[in-house]
Amino acid sequence: MSLHFTYYGHSTFTVEADGVKLVIDPFFAPNNPLAPVAVDKIEADFILLTHGHADHTADAVALAKQTGATVVANFEIVNWLQNQGVPSCHPMNTGGAYSFPFGRIKMTIAHHSSTLPDGTPAGNPAGYLIHFNDGSDVYFAGDTALTYDMKLIGEAGGVDLAILPIGDNFTMGPDDAVLAAQFVQAKHVIPAHYNTFPPIKQDAQAFAAQLRRINEIECTVLAPGEDFTL
Ligand code: NI
Ligand code: MN
Repeated sequence: MSLHFTYYGHSTFTVEADGVKLVIDPFFAPNNPLAPVAVDKIEADFILLTHGHADHTADAVALAKQTGATVVANFEIVNWLQNQGVPSCHPMNTGGAYSFPFGRIKMTIAHHSSTLPDGTPAGNPAGYLIHFNDGSDVYFAGDTALTYDMKLIGEAGGVDLAILPIGDNFTMGPDDAVLAAQFVQAKHVIPAHYNTFPPIKQDAQAFAAQLRRINEIECTVLAPGEDFTL
């Protein structure tokens, strides 16, 4: 079994794991200026939301309704989704883990803020650490500052792939993301949350070069629409 990732720009990824389709932070065209497709072209069995901000949730309700996918999010976001008529949700909260058909998800600490697009408080932001059934460990940091708590992930064995924000301004920037990659002991990194809007413009290739040079960690820079197989 392999994991097949597709990047849609900003923080939006799909993962296909043994036929199960996951979508992380659905933000598609035209809401997401980088996304090559609109949400009506996307298939999903599970949708994972890291926090409430519109650049992570704008297409969540539409995608959940068109696919019937189960949305995994924190308790507050799940309440909001249910009020929007989303049929299937699985509430979690920070530090908790739960086994799904594709693997085990742990909701991790993220230092950020979180409100939903209509201003509803969305609880605490989070990341996701996923232990897939094939044994691969993947960390989606979500929107977060660099935090020393990330070392706990490294101490627990590290990850095969870390998807880290590098945009700066709203999240950690490239220098802190290099430290984050070390903290979680990532074997491979994919940068995210950059170049969508002027305040988060970054040179992802320079980040990749810095990572390889300092730590000999593999880094793959994906253009929106590009795939990656782990
Ligand atoms: Ni955010
Ligand atoms: Mn964001």
